[in-house]
Amino acid sequence: MLKEVIATRYIAPLREGGSLPGLVEGDDLRTYVMKFTGAGQGRKTLVAEVVCGELARRLGFRMPRLVTLELDPVLGLGEPEQQVQELLRGSGGTNLGMDFLSGALGYDPLAFPVSPQEAGRIVWFDALINNVDRSWRNPNLLVRQGELWLIDHGATMIWQHNWPGAEASAARPYDASDHALARFAPDVRAAAADLAPRVTEDLLAEVTAEIPDVWLDGEPGFDTPDDLRRAYARPLLARAAGIAERITGLGGKSKEGK
Ligand SMILES: Nc1ncnc2c1ncn2[C@@H]1O[C@H](COP(=O)(O)OP(=O)(O)OP(=O)(O)O)[C@@H](O)[C@H]1O
Ligand SMILES: [Mg+2]
Repeated sequence: MLKEVIATRYIAPLREGGSLPGLVEGDDLRTYVMKFTGAGQGRKTLVAEVVCGELARRLGFRMPRLVTLELDPVLGLGEPEQQVQELLRGSGGTNLGMDFLSGALGYDPLAFPVSPQEAGRIVWFDALINNVDRSWRNPNLLVRQGELWLIDHGATMIWQHNWPGAEASAARPYDASDHALARFAPDVRAAAADLAPRVTEDLLAEVTAEIPDVWLDGEPGFDTPDDLRRAYARPLLARAAGIAERITGLGGKSKEGK
């Protein structure tokens, strides 16, 4: 279970995020980046954040701590901006919070070279989860004290939007040609040799257990939240074994600097 925190104060919107994440204070007096159930694709985006974020952490990537943030929509009443007010009013209940990394900067591939080993691990992981949102245009990586942190795993696991076709969808290759780290000769083979055996059924059960039931309830075709948890685990387990051979677009060059 993720730690449960109550949102006590809306501080400001984070303008860079397409889904209008907000900076929020919790009842533990910490500052969180809050992602709302009332935004865009709603709770499925948040499920993806939990599954992929918690998997990343367990595979040894730097990934800010995740919590659930309980929101009383009353918090939105005093917001002067209509867009923010509507988002808060439409997101009562359980939302997602991520530790705010103060002092972190957005990643710039031109300013911060990465080793083939580290690039390989991140590209392999993104191939596993089918992340289409780590391009050089929008890297969704932060740098703090010379270290890379992964954020924003909402646009992953496309198969979760069509469960009957999930197996076929998860069998598809991963095109890494636009990946933010494609220019650093990512050693995906070495990454796969280390990481793939660690993506086990037990690990995925542990990771999917972190998803709050309220984001899983009522999914058509699934009787219980645990059935849906297993559906999230299955394609990742199947992909881990062979995805390294199905990464395309690395071929020694990239679309950098366009
Ligand atoms: N944990 C964090 N610590 C510090 N800054 C963060 C954190 N999470 C996000 N940010 C900042 O907020 C921005 C938006 O966050 P994020 O990318 O998760 O939102 P999004 O709405 O999913 O974005 P996108 O436009 O990529 O879909 C990031 O680019 C980053 O600058
Ligand atoms: Mg983002």
